[in-house]
Amino acid sequence: MSVIKRREFLGLGIGTTAALLLSQCARSSSQSVGPSSALAHAQSYSSEGGLLSVDLAAEAQSTLLGVGQGPAPEGHRTANLLTYNSQIPGPQLEAKPGDTVQIRFTNRLNQPTNLHYHGLHIPPTGTGDNVFLEIPPGESYDYEFQIPQNHPAGTFWYHPHHHGLVAEQLFWGLAGLFIVRGDLDEIPEIQAAQEAFLVLKDFAINRSGNIPNPGHMAQMTGRIGNLLTTNGQFNPALQIAQGGLLRLRLLNASSSRFFWLSLEEHPFYLIATDGGAIAAPVEVNDLVLAPGERVDVLVRGDQEPGQYRLLNQPFNPAQGMMGGGRIGGSGRMGGRGMMRGSANRGGLETVATLTYNGATAELPLPTQLIPVQPLPEPQTVRQFTLNHGMGMVFLINGQAFDHNRVDTEVTLNTVEDWDIINTGTMAHPFHVHVNKFQIISRNGQPPAYSAWKDVVSVSPGESVRIRMSFRDYIGKTVYHCHVLDHEDRGMMGILDIQPA
Ligand code: C2O
Ligand code: CU
Repeated sequence: MSVIKRREFLGLGIGTTAALLLSQCARSSSQSVGPSSALAHAQSYSSEGGLLSVDLAAEAQSTLLGVGQGPAPEGHRTANLLTYNSQIPGPQLEAKPGDTVQIRFTNRLNQPTNLHYHGLHIPPTGTGDNVFLEIPPGESYDYEFQIPQNHPAGTFWYHPHHHGLVAEQLFWGLAGLFIVRGDLDEIPEIQAAQEAFLVLKDFAINRSGNIPNPGHMAQMTGRIGNLLTTNGQFNPALQIAQGGLLRLRLLNASSSRFFWLSLEEHPFYLIATDGGAIAAPVEVNDLVLAPGERVDVLVRGDQEPGQYRLLNQPFNPAQGMMGGGRIGGSGRMGGRGMMRGSANRGGLETVATLTYNGATAELPLPTQLIPVQPLPEPQTVRQFTLNHGMGMVFLINGQAFDHNRVDTEVTLNTVEDWDIINTGTMAHPFHVHVNKFQIISRNGQPPAYSAWKDVVSVSPGESVRIRMSFRDYIGKTVYHCHVLDHEDRGMMGILDIQPA
């Protein structure tokens, strides 16, 4: 029985036997019984002597979904997915500032694809983060770029970006982490923490192990699967020592699904967002991760030994979370109280289980992380209005994506504010390539803390002001909605960064 339930029952004065019976009922109706297996991590490739050199192939594969490594226990599903190097998620790539990255990429799919390095500050042109490249079936391409010397440490990722096929290729499994190691990782309290990477992703698998084609509705809302996986596993076990610190590095790699996470009886101490560290840990009770967003959080092993569920609560993108606990937002909601009230509410799912294992001398939280330098006042303010049009088309400023049209021309080394205005009926997580940004305000309210972001979710009726500086690289790139069905159906624009 989980600790949270025991406490609730004691609070209500119900005797032990009744509590046990009740908790068994609650448990048999809930989706998960216990963690399926220990958390598996993707095969990882790290740079050596300043060079990260990897072969990566995209390929259709029959995969055991849900199990991680080892023999297939009950509950696994055989699924026909798309993989990088036969793995779900794809291999984890790790580099340091200053490193050269060489990726020999081979397309073994039956359709064109390419790679986007989400969140990395690298050139959008040539062999860099060039989303205009089309790599035909059967062909290879050599990506090569350098991570700048002053690149922040952080949780980045790679995924396909061939317009029109992005939602499908990602939904079918193509995504992997790209970690930059650096300043944040060297803070002693963070070094002392156990590190776990959690790639969260939903899948939909039919009886024959295939991913069904999205219906009309799924193309509007974005395709959403009912199987929630963490590193390709169903409800894996995370370990924490009593007194210890666990650093969870989370990525929402879903095509369209938002995650709304909380951990029974444990707050999260947020230490980094999409673009790297924040200035000091911020205690939050829940996290909303829009598609494409990442966070790093610390968890303290300060409860009684036991098992605690990392829970996902359904998130309705039509309503969003006005003033809610979203990253970079200006408030918070729910918290531990929410968890108590909702422990038996429909739709809660366990994405991982935290298990106490052993004990250690109590590790402190860091007090200082890395300052988030404010950006200077903008030279230009622009507006981007998000909505959908007639017939399943999604628009920015009334226009659907056209690869022959430049939508926004900016100048290198200038600062701009962009107002992202959602006049539609669904939340749109707005993403900009190459340069990260700071949220200045949401509906006129400044955020509770400064943070570097590259995705910001804008709920219906909201207006969010972001500020960014165009640094180091010129050329064409894109901004778009990270509900990838929306992106594939037009909600993307071309940004041309011109020389100063
Ligand atoms: Cu993660 Cu343009 O996307
Ligand atoms: Cu959208």
